[in-house]
Amino acid sequence: MSDTPSDLEFVPLAADDDETVGQWLSLLADAAESGPRAAPPCTADMTGSLRFAPPATALDDWVVRSGGRVVGALRLALPDGAPSARVDQLLVHPGLHRRGIGRALHDHALRRAREHGRSTLSATVVESLPGGPPQDPGPAAFAAAMGAARSDIPAGVHQWLDLDRHDPLAGGVPATPAGYSLVTWGTVTPDEYAVQVSELELSLGDAPVDRAAQEVRTSYARQFETMRQGRGRRAYHTGVVHDGSGRLAGYTSVSKTTGNPAYALQGMTVVHREHRGHRLGMLLKLANLEYVLRHEPAVRLLDTANAEDNQPMIAVNAAMGFEPYDRWVFWTRSVDLPG
Ligand code: ACO
Repeated sequence: MSDTPSDLEFVPLAADDDETVGQWLSLLADAAESGPRAAPPCTADMTGSLRFAPPATALDDWVVRSGGRVVGALRLALPDGAPSARVDQLLVHPGLHRRGIGRALHDHALRRAREHGRSTLSATVVESLPGGPPQDPGPAAFAAAMGAARSDIPAGVHQWLDLDRHDPLAGGVPATPAGYSLVTWGTVTPDEYAVQVSELELSLGDAPVDRAAQEVRTSYARQFETMRQGRGRRAYHTGVVHDGSGRLAGYTSVSKTTGNPAYALQGMTVVHREHRGHRLGMLLKLANLEYVLRHEPAVRLLDTANAEDNQPMIAVNAAMGFEPYDRWVFWTRSVDLPG
């Protein structure tokens, strides 16, 4: 590492610092060319992310400069009340790898995590699936060299649906089972569903519901859509209402950035446990895909990720034509150990 630049300078990445934000966007675009398969970075989405954090999470964004140019970036996500700081971005310009810049960013991440009172640093590293396309082993080697270890949290299976190769709507949308009705909404959740969506999302349709914790205006759903709107994203939702109770039994969500007409993200799908076993998950996803394509006909590629122990959802995705592509493996390290 004798050629580590001696003038590395860490600068907070501020949303109103147009020049630095511009260099950061160029870094993201350059890195995306050689990075793992993903939708290309969208300018509106990324600049919006500097102002609009996910619900109950603070973001701490930094760039590192050398010779007056941005050569690397760090984003720590700090979920409220959690012991961990999550590394959402730790990136070195592809032309400047193996010069110690990654290590310097990691040291900075440790310092910041300590300053934020966090005891662990966590990160997601893209790795190959058995039999899948080979992925760059560098990031995992880097994480190990930084003293991190693979977590025992199940990895995420990242899957892609290519509508030019497979049309899941060729057979139409299945009939809605008796006793249920479908509803749709766009980016903004109707008041009548905001609390129910939040409860389904936060409990994954499983845990007992804490009604007192959510109210419409401040609900998780409202906070999440505020972030989406701030990032210029559009979203499409289909929900299934249980006619007997009038309650939302489940819903699914697809969103997309403004800059990538062909790409969409299949987000949360959840069916409350009392309503499982009626193929509502598949129905929701197919009905919602039809809804998406009606409004966004240019969409050709959707990606999604599920915990690898979530076989029911991975099976629904496989039936729709989603193909597993790579694995998102969680790594952690204590911030108290030496860097
Ligand atoms: N193969 C094997 N070991 C590696 C590699 C690699 N490609 N890259 C880094 N390392 C290990 C080595 O032990 C290295 O020390 P050495 O060069 O003295 O042998 C040590 O990590 C430190 O390497 P740096 O030079 O500091 O790392 P670099 O500046 O190249 O940045 C990074 C590494 C951030 C992974 C870079 O390749 C990158 O930007 N990749 C794309 C983004 C990414 O995947 N980030 C996730 C990182 S995982 C995490 O955040 C915990």
